[in-house]
Amino acid sequence: MEFEIGHPVAMLESETCRLVLVLFPSQGHINPMLQLATILNSRGFSITIAHPEFNSPNPSNYPNFTFLPIPDGLSKSSLTVQDFHSTMLAIHRNCREPLRRFIQQMLEQNDPQGRVACIIYDALMHFAQEVAAQLNLPSINVRTSAAASMLAFAALPRANEQGYITFTDSLIQDESLKLQSLNIRDLLITMGENPSDTVLELRAATTSATRNSCAAIVNTIHFLEEEMLPKIQEYFHAPIYAIGPFHKLAPSSSSSLLKEDTGCISWLDKQASRSVLYVSFGSVASMNEEQLLETAMGLAMSERPFLWVVRPSSVGCTEWLELLPKGLQEIIGQRGCIVKWAPQKEVLAHGAVGGFWTHCGWNSTLESICEGVPMLCWPVFGDQGLDAKYISHVWKIGLELEAKLERGKIAGAIRRLMVEEEGEEIRQQAQAFKERAERSLDMGGSTNTALNELVELILSFQPQHVTSD
Ligand code: UDX
Repeated sequence: MEFEIGHPVAMLESETCRLVLVLFPSQGHINPMLQLATILNSRGFSITIAHPEFNSPNPSNYPNFTFLPIPDGLSKSSLTVQDFHSTMLAIHRNCREPLRRFIQQMLEQNDPQGRVACIIYDALMHFAQEVAAQLNLPSINVRTSAAASMLAFAALPRANEQGYITFTDSLIQDESLKLQSLNIRDLLITMGENPSDTVLELRAATTSATRNSCAAIVNTIHFLEEEMLPKIQEYFHAPIYAIGPFHKLAPSSSSSLLKEDTGCISWLDKQASRSVLYVSFGSVASMNEEQLLETAMGLAMSERPFLWVVRPSSVGCTEWLELLPKGLQEIIGQRGCIVKWAPQKEVLAHGAVGGFWTHCGWNSTLESICEGVPMLCWPVFGDQGLDAKYISHVWKIGLELEAKLERGKIAGAIRRLMVEEEGEEIRQQAQAFKERAERSLDMGGSTNTALNELVELILSFQPQHVTSD
């Protein structure tokens, strides 16, 4: 099969185009990829979701989509920070060939209602770009994190070593190049100063795949990264489409792997307007016993109502809250609500919520921005440090907590955010960001325009004929 890009006479009707989306199996990646699939489906494209068997999404939530489980050879029940990279490497090793075979079969079926137009893959599933190239299909890379992380991935400290891509040195070394108050170099260092060889190889492969794809889609809003996006475009020659926030364009889709405890919404209904601190550290980060105790004591000392998500198995080796002394559970239980998993978007949109203590996962960051909720940042790993810098230093819609959790400092930071004048200024800025995010979705807004351009691009991919091996 051959394809041409941007050939107006050869435009396909979107109904006849099937898009294969390749998911990385963690909650923070499944959510935005299924949201993107929903958005593209609403523009008339047929959708196939190719996903590893581990952490499979629930197909019954998406009756319009075809699901394609890829054997991954994993025998796991959850993903942790510690085994994140080994899991990813196993997926890369085990899923490439089955994915190629499955898509080859789809192409051979030659379904007129579902000719595969391109492969759209999560950046962490970079091997999908090579699979697409083998099958002569166009591919589009998706970043579920901030666009700035694309630069951070490309900036390799040992750039000239064989196998790594040389990053534009001037960009990383130019001290005068500022991103608002931050030096770009400082911003990129938040992604880790001494990354391991495995991480470097992953970043090199991801960057290389992005450069070899026809386009990149980023779940960001243009105004959030307006100084960063042109720099990224300089390096990645293919067009970059900033069409976030995905979740606002695909509001009805649910892709939670854990059962959401909706009881916390009734609890929120009883709280005063903007009084509650919502506390959640996403789907992968964990805590040790000391951090759990300091967090509980800090919440108790802050004297603010709180809704706290403690994921099962996220504290030490225990199942849930066993490490919290009973007395403390009772004290905080009077003012707080603790759940295993919350309907987070609904929580953040609730009028009682006035602040979000977050690990700064990119989805949580965008969800908070879209509801105008100021943030208390406690980044744990990966791109979260970068997001925290954006939130606290660049956008000024939050405060950053010290990495070492201490009850007094936690309580002080909560009061600064929720009670003091400093917090009020941050709240106003967060409200302004919410309004700008809404405007990006309007006709003529940056997201709306970029989405229209993306649809045009996909429609211009012209399948010519199908051949089998
Ligand atoms: C990971 C990385 O931490 C993140 O930095 C990267 O950008 C994506 O992968 P994760 O830890 O899962 O993500 O955090 P985040 O990106 O915030 O995604 C978590 C998702 O789970 C959000 O969409 C959030 O709404 C949802 N969630 C979280 C719930 O639905 N309920 C909860 O109780 C907590």
